[in-house]
Amino acid sequence: MRDIIYINEVGLRDGLQNQPNPVSTESKLKMAAALVAAGVRQFEAVSFVHPKLVPQMADAVDVLAGLREFNQLNIAALVPNMKGYERAREQGVTSIGVVLASTDTFNQRNLNMTLAQTRETCQQVIAQARADGVFVRAYISGAIACPYDGKTPVDVVHKLTADMIQAGAHEISIADTIGAGNPQQISDILRPLVQQFGADRFNLHLHDTRGLALAMAWAGVMEGVRRFDSSIGGLGGCPFAPGASGNVATEDLVYMLEESGFDTGIDINALRDAVQVAEVATGQHLGGRILKWMQSQAIRAAQKREACV
Ligand code: COA
Ligand code: ZN
Repeated sequence: MRDIIYINEVGLRDGLQNQPNPVSTESKLKMAAALVAAGVRQFEAVSFVHPKLVPQMADAVDVLAGLREFNQLNIAALVPNMKGYERAREQGVTSIGVVLASTDTFNQRNLNMTLAQTRETCQQVIAQARADGVFVRAYISGAIACPYDGKTPVDVVHKLTADMIQAGAHEISIADTIGAGNPQQISDILRPLVQQFGADRFNLHLHDTRGLALAMAWAGVMEGVRRFDSSIGGLGGCPFAPGASGNVATEDLVYMLEESGFDTGIDINALRDAVQVAEVATGQHLGGRILKWMQSQAIRAAQKREACV
């Protein structure tokens, strides 16, 4: 049997939060439908943040309501504080993400709190979530570099990870928010953590700013990680992290993993349709690096079919 790798689609949240043009709830749900048709079952679909700061997430309640129409999905919401947590719980959310960035500056710009304040907020939210039986994943954001203060020491990532695990987070997402890392750094961060806490506790959240996200994902696989975030078409970027580009594209990640013998449960060909839906939704040209090749294969197959008729 092939080893399973869990893909968490973050295009609806991380991918859309920074889009210049509004994306309607209906378009978001069409994106979700195309992804579900391709076999995607796990989404970080919304965030409960201040709607004035991130208008693209203002329809979180409606998006969640629409997603309830699909069966057997694992839907998570990002919450920055207790107010966000309460808003999420009002909608029956049972899986949340909290965010702890690696520096004071990044926490300030992102959440208007110092690192210490954000850590305390995360601890409070996690405690409440644990009491409510809600699954918590904690992002360690800017784990490779802070968009404002530069490189993040590995020790800092290890300390913040330990803090969040001690607080009760079920899963830790090591996030290269601005896509500044390399595969060796991923191994250096993960190896001691995996030894101490087990690979199952970790997820990688990678942005592809410098074209190394797939190589970094593979380094994660080699360290035993089986949980990855990705974004359809490589959508993404953070309004509070200058220089952040899109997440690793779901189609690139799925292609690499399936070709390497892992089972993602996702149909790579159906992801092509999902990219198209995302392009219509955002009015942007999208697509990971594998897409051109896939398109050329599809054209070739169609030509062959015509030749046979
Ligand atoms: N959702 C909606 N409104 C919120 C909120 C939340 N999660 N948290 C606070 N607010 C409201 C308060 O109710 C208050 O409203 P009022 O002025 O009508 O009374 C107002 O925001 C200010 O509250 P405060 O606690 O001082 O928040 P803040 O101004 O320090 O902002 C955040 C803190 C976290 C809400 C804000 O920085 C934010 O939404 N950041 C989002 C960043 C983001 O999405 N980053 C990308 C993903 S990591
Ligand atoms: Zn991100």
